Amino acid sequence: MQKDLGDYRKSYEKSELTEASVKENPMEQFQKWFYETEASDGVDEPNAMTVSTIGLDGFPKSRVVLMKKFTFEGFIFYTNYHSEKGRAIEANPSVCLSFFWPNMERQVIIKGKAEKIAPNLSDGYFESRPHGSQLGAVVSDQSEVVPSREYLEGKLNKLEKKYYGKEVPRPEYWGGYLVRPISIEFWQGRPNRLHDRIRYSLQEDFDWKIERLAP
Ligand SMILES: Cc1cc2nc3c(=O)[nH]c(=O)nc-3n(C[C@H](O)[C@H](O)[C@H](O)COP(=O)(O)O)c2cc1C
Repeated sequence: MQKDLGDYRKSYEKSELTEASVKENPMEQFQKWFYETEASDGVDEPNAMTVSTIGLDGFPKSRVVLMKKFTFEGFIFYTNYHSEKGRAIEANPSVCLSFFWPNMERQVIIKGKAEKIAPNLSDGYFESRPHGSQLGAVVSDQSEVVPSREYLEGKLNKLEKKYYGKEVPRPEYWGGYLVRPISIEFWQGRPNRLHDRIRYSLQEDFDWKIERLAP
């Protein structure tokens, strides 16, 4: 099988990014871009981000999760702490997050350290989820091999009966991670592949250094 994609070519012309125009704080810059993406209506889930971890097998692994909050501290997502990514983070909290917003011709790449958020914060978010999603979190030993789909559906049926009309307690192995950034790179596509790349790096005095990178 062979398919040549050499003719796939697009010129990026929508916007620009300059040292003079970016915010001093990268989280404010992130907020600006995030709001612009939301308002553009061209991305179904602007909060979908790729999380890359260094696995216990030494390989990097990336997968998409949903960012559920961002603050000056960083980026929060929820998952199963016993999953492959959870085990990877336990051994090595250094992670990379990335967002690609194609309609905006923009990418954001974040390096940082992941830490579990306080259990009461995970409780609060878990309680806000629909009943079905709560049961889904309980039913799934995320990343484990299962014999069949029927096995999972059988487990879900039992849980539906057990928790019919009742509160589902948050399993202790399910909760949030906060990724505290140490570097955030903003990439804006430009014509002739001369893209704009502005990187913020956290300094020892907690100031952010702003540099332009070659595309
Ligand atoms: C759009 C989208 C959103 C997702 N959101 C989440 C999420 O918020 N949390 C999560 O644990 N998995 C989410 N997933 C599933 C993950 O990509 C992944 O399959 C799962 O977390 C298991 O990853 P792991 O085995 O590498 O730990 C999402 C997948 C997609 C495509």
